[in-house]
Amino acid sequence: MCYAIPGKIVNLNNKIAIVDYFGEKRNVLNEFENIKIGDYVYAQGGIIIDKIPEKDALEILNFWKEYFFELKKIDQKLSQQRVSQNVNTEVLQILQKVNLNQQLGKDELLKLLQISTTDTNSLNLIYTSANNVRQKELDNACCVHGIIEFSNYCKNNCFYCGIRKDRSILRYRMLPNEIIKTAEIAVKKFGFKAIVLQSGEDFWYNDENLVSIVKEIRKFNILIFLSIGVRSLETYQKLYNAGARAVLIRFETSNKNIFAKLRPQTNFQERIELIKSLKKLGYIIATGFLIGLPNETYEDIINNILLTKSFEPDMYSFGPLIPAIGTPLENVKTIDETTVLKIISITRFVDRQSKILITSSFETLSKEAKRNGLLSGGNSLMINVTPKNYAKLYEIYSNRPNIEKTIEENIKNTIELLYSLGRAPTDLGI
Ligand code: 5AD
Ligand code: SF4
Repeated sequence: MCYAIPGKIVNLNNKIAIVDYFGEKRNVLNEFENIKIGDYVYAQGGIIIDKIPEKDALEILNFWKEYFFELKKIDQKLSQQRVSQNVNTEVLQILQKVNLNQQLGKDELLKLLQISTTDTNSLNLIYTSANNVRQKELDNACCVHGIIEFSNYCKNNCFYCGIRKDRSILRYRMLPNEIIKTAEIAVKKFGFKAIVLQSGEDFWYNDENLVSIVKEIRKFNILIFLSIGVRSLETYQKLYNAGARAVLIRFETSNKNIFAKLRPQTNFQERIELIKSLKKLGYIIATGFLIGLPNETYEDIINNILLTKSFEPDMYSFGPLIPAIGTPLENVKTIDETTVLKIISITRFVDRQSKILITSSFETLSKEAKRNGLLSGGNSLMINVTPKNYAKLYEIYSNRPNIEKTIEENIKNTIELLYSLGRAPTDLGI
């Protein structure tokens, strides 16, 4: 199964290449020396990650040709804006601005977040409007990244997190060879083109370890995302040089007081500065926040969206806080699905061209949550490819979804869902 389709280089100007996908052109960054016009390549996150022989490319494209346009038709149909009766006039006025591609003010974003759960007409309209913006701006591409959770050790003690240092759980660390092997299976057996390497803040893995892991995995010609928390810029520079190109690091909350209270011994400003510096280093940034932290207001949530935007991220990653048993926040009330869907839609209005991840924590809220998220502005997913014996120990919150299912089953279900929505599980670049 392929998670990205090959494109043909039709133009090359310094490091910027134009790649053609069945007539659709995208600009991508080329870091390969030996690429020329007419070559077939895979691109992920706007970067060429691999060159492939013409014969293989044509075979894959032949398979995709039929689906490519069929899926688009389904998506176009599902993403038409549907205005029904009795939509709140203020909401209509705000959405009019969205249709005219105008920026919304903070008060307007707040108004959308305040739409009542019982006002289903207004809610449905904002969801379909966001889906419509997503379709117009980005078409039907949906990233599907694989994620390997390679260690559940963490030196920190965040109040909400199930792998916090003080929680008594069985800990594991995958050895470098095991991590590389797992990535190899994800790439060669399952076809992933982008892999997230995630762990708690675990300094057992020193620079040397991490560099060698990244270097080996880079040989599979994929996009490597790091999700390893706060490390020195020097470390991140070494990992960039080794071949990592993206970092997933949430700032968790824009509210400094909440941050200080829930993340002892960690520093808000340091995290923010790190994200900015990583961007400057050239990393693709995926960042965001938790939803439903105690004492969080709607205004905090809007600030979270706007702070995420200020980093010019490639991907927004936010999800509900799900209580983890045995943590200080084990009894906290989880936010409802409607609020998260509103946040997904509002984020789409704020940043029309971004990737918005539908997280597995959101999936726990209902059976339909993932589908609803994709129909409300979302366009990215992750599939857990951690070996099963470890995945069940990476318990950042209790009852993680799909952990009992095999990787094959999870891939199959995801692809079926995406096809039913007319989405192509692929990343077509910037
Ligand atoms: N519920 C949902 N997400 C959580 N995270 C940590 N604990 C929880 C929880 N209980 C998220 C944090 C972190 C990411 C790796 O996992 O936002 O950045
Ligand atoms: Fe560690 Fe991240 Fe969990 Fe905090 S949220 S305890 S830093 S894994």
